[in-house]
Amino acid sequence: MRVDAEHPEAAIIERAAAIIRRGGLVAFPTETVYGLGANALDEAAVQGIFEAKRRALNDPLIVHLASADDLPRIVTSVPPIARALAARFWPGPLTLVLPKQPAVPDVATAGLPTVAVRVPSHPVAQALIRAAGLPIAAPSANLFMRTSATLASHVVEDLGDRVDLILDGGPAPHGIESTVVAVTDSDVRLLRPGATTPEAIADALAELDPPVPLLLGEAGRTASPGLLAKHYSPRASLFLLTGEPAETSPAFRRAIERAVQDGRRVGVLLLDEDAPLLADLADQLQVAPLGSERDLASVAGRLFAAMRSLDAAGCDAMYARTTGSAGLGLAILDRLTRAAHPGDE
Ligand code: TXA
Ligand code: MG
Repeated sequence: MRVDAEHPEAAIIERAAAIIRRGGLVAFPTETVYGLGANALDEAAVQGIFEAKRRALNDPLIVHLASADDLPRIVTSVPPIARALAARFWPGPLTLVLPKQPAVPDVATAGLPTVAVRVPSHPVAQALIRAAGLPIAAPSANLFMRTSATLASHVVEDLGDRVDLILDGGPAPHGIESTVVAVTDSDVRLLRPGATTPEAIADALAELDPPVPLLLGEAGRTASPGLLAKHYSPRASLFLLTGEPAETSPAFRRAIERAVQDGRRVGVLLLDEDAPLLADLADQLQVAPLGSERDLASVAGRLFAAMRSLDAAGCDAMYARTTGSAGLGLAILDRLTRAAHPGDE
């Protein structure tokens, strides 16, 4: 069902909210990616999310609230550091992992004593949560292990007949998931890079008194049980080139040329900067443009849709060059790396 992304129609939102209240599943746009939502406090409804996505039960969900004022409904305590991050970044693409209330069913958090929570800024997500009057658990609205849905058509492709309603609010603005951090009384740890850059979080933490460190490193592997290396996968094999364009360009071109000669149907996730390099091969390639590497917001926003479009074009090999690890580059690198390593846990 189409819904106005800026001013969602009240009747449509009420219909979706009624489905949430009675334990059903509604896919809806957020500012990051589409979410597959259910009443976070209803164990059977949350179970339904896992079944629809065929998601592993050890992969905990994010609970969405309309406002930080509702935190006491799902968490037992909010450390001052978490309050500061919420004040700075909510509503928006930052998820905080905090100690959970017993009211949140164990299935939602994969049995963990913590719950991941965020306040989305998208008007449709905001309106839906408010109208339902409930916290909404929502993972990305894709089949488990597939790339996240940034368009309603992606949700239809993956989950079409498994959800009660899909709200189509057009493209998800950021096109990449929220950043997930674990917050304690003394520090913050990055579990999943995403649409809020680590630099922005570190800046906010540095302003606190006393300043608080942002811990990077072994992001996610142990702290976030569902974070498998294989995630966000396209169907085709993805090959990555990392490094400065000047050094990697000849190798990038050679690898692509060889794959074409081998008779593979080759897709390229193409940065504007690499277009001249491949211009003469263009009619033998499927190309999904990512924009300029000087505009990482555009690259991040187009990444998942680009992988899906190359899959849809029947590619069996995909090539991409990474864009460093500064700013949104880290989230892009993370998603590309996971997509490129099928089977690696
Ligand atoms: O942007 C987003 O975050 C989207 C939209 C719909 O809000 N949601 C999303 O959800 O990406 P999902 O389920 O695809 O990813 C949730 C991530 C997983 O990496 C999971 O391991 C982590 O959050 N997570 C959830 N609960 C956790 C917890 N209690 N402790 C550590 N990590 C947790
Ligand atoms: Mg996901």
